[in-house]
Amino acid sequence: PYPTYARMRRDAPVCQVDPGGMWAVSRHDDVLRVLKDPQRFSSQGFRQVTNPPWLGGNPFAESMLVMDPPQHGRLRGLVQKAFGAAAMARLEPRVRELCRQAVAELPRGRPVDMMAPFALRIPAAVISELLGLDPRHAARLKQWADLITGGVSTVRPEEEDRKQRARDAVAEVRAYFGDVLEARAREPAGTDVLSELRQARVDGEALTKDELIAFMALLLVGGIETVVHLLGSSLVVLREHPEVWAQLRADRSRIPAFIEEVLRYEPPAQAAPRLTTEEVELGGVKLPRGAPVLVLLASAAHDEAHFPDGDRFNLSRAGPQNLPFGHGIHFCLGAQLARMEGRLALEALLDAFRHLEAGPEPMTWHRTLVVRGPATL
Ligand code: HEM
Repeated sequence: PYPTYARMRRDAPVCQVDPGGMWAVSRHDDVLRVLKDPQRFSSQGFRQVTNPPWLGGNPFAESMLVMDPPQHGRLRGLVQKAFGAAAMARLEPRVRELCRQAVAELPRGRPVDMMAPFALRIPAAVISELLGLDPRHAARLKQWADLITGGVSTVRPEEEDRKQRARDAVAEVRAYFGDVLEARAREPAGTDVLSELRQARVDGEALTKDELIAFMALLLVGGIETVVHLLGSSLVVLREHPEVWAQLRADRSRIPAFIEEVLRYEPPAQAAPRLTTEEVELGGVKLPRGAPVLVLLASAAHDEAHFPDGDRFNLSRAGPQNLPFGHGIHFCLGAQLARMEGRLALEALLDAFRHLEAGPEPMTWHRTLVVRGPATL
């Protein structure tokens, strides 16, 4: 499904998209080399892109995603446990219930756009649960998450209206999360992520309000923007391959393999950005210091050198597929959670429906630089 990436891997595996622009890295081995080397390929260097001066302080830009060692490791250590295997096992019954609820409320016997009531509702409900937000605000949370990411990275200088919308979103997110924190400060600490963060100490100091808000913004974007597309793209695959739906119905133990192959075949996070801290050679090309680099995770996941017949969806392909979650120090914190949401959402759907059918409306794709998946389906 990715002919341009295939051409890049063949003809120009490390290339500058336009003069003065970003360098795209398309081969699996080069992508891994970049992600394994945070000293020379910095995430922090990318902070300025997520926080242009006109925006007025994007909390996402103060998160650990755009930090390098040692600051990154100090913050990551605070939340690692809350997303580990034991925490996920505790969370599983609740996530199963949220998935069943969403599926039970889907209309039957008539066409439905599956994005809002299924693909968005589930991750929004899960992240709301983790952060103590009101799940009825799902649509607003998604809008903010979209504006904070896509609304920032692709704005052109003359696009005043888009700038204003992104500015508004950033101010609203700050105010909304500030209110949540204030309300929570009046309650005793629980065992959720937010309580852990509030009690956490870095070098003996509690996190400031701004640091807490940055964490919440990162978890909001990380938790919603990607899982919505994992679920949406799962449905796209099932629509293209009705035999896979039948196979999963016959044998639920194949669902995890299905999710892994969707992650590889149609990666929700297409790319990750870095900035070079010194001159460095990559794939036979000399990159100058300060070069913006975009590693194409989706291209790496289709690289024929690692995935024979990679453009074919193959339920029996050996997994797990870690690359769609990145690699190294920034490896996705929510990978296990995302896999669990995918598995339980699919289980709920298979339990409730014998048959899915493409509706009369053509689907549309979400248009941003970094995440990919359906906008309407
Ligand atoms: C980081 C993908 C779901 C939270 C990342 C990265 C990728 C990724 C590629 C690394 C970015 C980089 O190296 O610059 C995905 C995909 C998901 C998913 C494909 C779903 C299918 C989630 C969920 C959460 C989450 C559910 C949390 C609720 C994070 C966080 C980071 C991260 C906090 C930053 C980690 C760090 O900087 O150390 N994700 N993600 N993600 N993800 Fe995810």
